[in-house]
Amino acid sequence: MPEVGTHVGSGKVRELYALDGDRLLLVASDRISTFDVVLPTEIPDKGRVLTGLSAFWFVRTGDLCANHLLAVRPDGRSLECRRLKMLPIECVVRGYLAGSGWKDYQASGEVCGHALPEGLRESDRLATPIFTPATKAETGHDENITREQASGLIGVERVAEVEAASLALYRFASDYAAERGIIIADTKFEFGIDEEGRLVLADEAFTPDSSRFWPADSYAPGAAQPSFDKQFVRDYCESLGWDKTDPGPELPEDVVAGTRARYVEAFERLTERSFDAYLDEPESVLR
Ligand SMILES: Nc1ncnc2c1ncn2[C@@H]1O[C@H](COP(=O)(O)OP(=O)(O)OP(=O)(O)O)[C@@H](O)[C@H]1O
Ligand SMILES: [Mg+2]
Repeated sequence: MPEVGTHVGSGKVRELYALDGDRLLLVASDRISTFDVVLPTEIPDKGRVLTGLSAFWFVRTGDLCANHLLAVRPDGRSLECRRLKMLPIECVVRGYLAGSGWKDYQASGEVCGHALPEGLRESDRLATPIFTPATKAETGHDENITREQASGLIGVERVAEVEAASLALYRFASDYAAERGIIIADTKFEFGIDEEGRLVLADEAFTPDSSRFWPADSYAPGAAQPSFDKQFVRDYCESLGWDKTDPGPELPEDVVAGTRARYVEAFERLTERSFDAYLDEPESVLR
């Protein structure tokens, strides 16, 4: 039996176990949430896609920013990581105008204190990527905050540090993905602080759950873009006339299969490896 440790928490997607005082085991389940509601039906292997992709990016970005990765377990969904003191903000980078960024821009011409040029359309590419922090809401939706509000939570210097790290990570991964036909429209990071007070990238990195992935070949600003993965589930749920409150609808078999295929396709296009090879040997993603 592999070491599992003490259960210390559950998120919408992950179960957390303490292996010892310094190490955590993050186990990504196959749960899927849409419109912030966890659906009663799971997507087989979705957790493995998230863990495999995160590990893939952690090894490739370690020189840009230290991260919490220690090992990937043979089950492909469990990540051993350094246990950190998490910062109480979500670090979002936007390269394109979508989601709450688009909403805020329409209302005020700004996103998190960044004044943007007039006349931008939904899904337009921004001249330069912007850092748009948000609160970590215990319940409900995260709320966008200004740099000053973020400074009130973690200090001016730490904000400058997470901003620089977030932008560097986004630039690297968005260039990498663009060469493989995928636009990373925006992404969210969570950082923690280690024993020595150093900033460390934690949680997950550049997964379909933490990022908007758009297929580059069908990109057409001026409207919402179909996302690579969850759009399929969202469209199905909307077709039922569901009111987007808990409980969500069960998913039929074809929607489950189609969603799984899209998560797997995102994994394969970004890593340029077969997902079956990952299932056979999860550690292969570290090379
Ligand atoms: N290295 C780490 N040390 C301590 N806590 C961590 C570390 N990495 C991630 N976490 C925490 O583990 C949890 C991961 O679980 P999960 O992603 O399911 O939760 P969530 O963020 O609440 O949900 P969602 O991602 O759907 O908003 C988060 O609370 C995250 O802050
Ligand atoms: Mg999370």
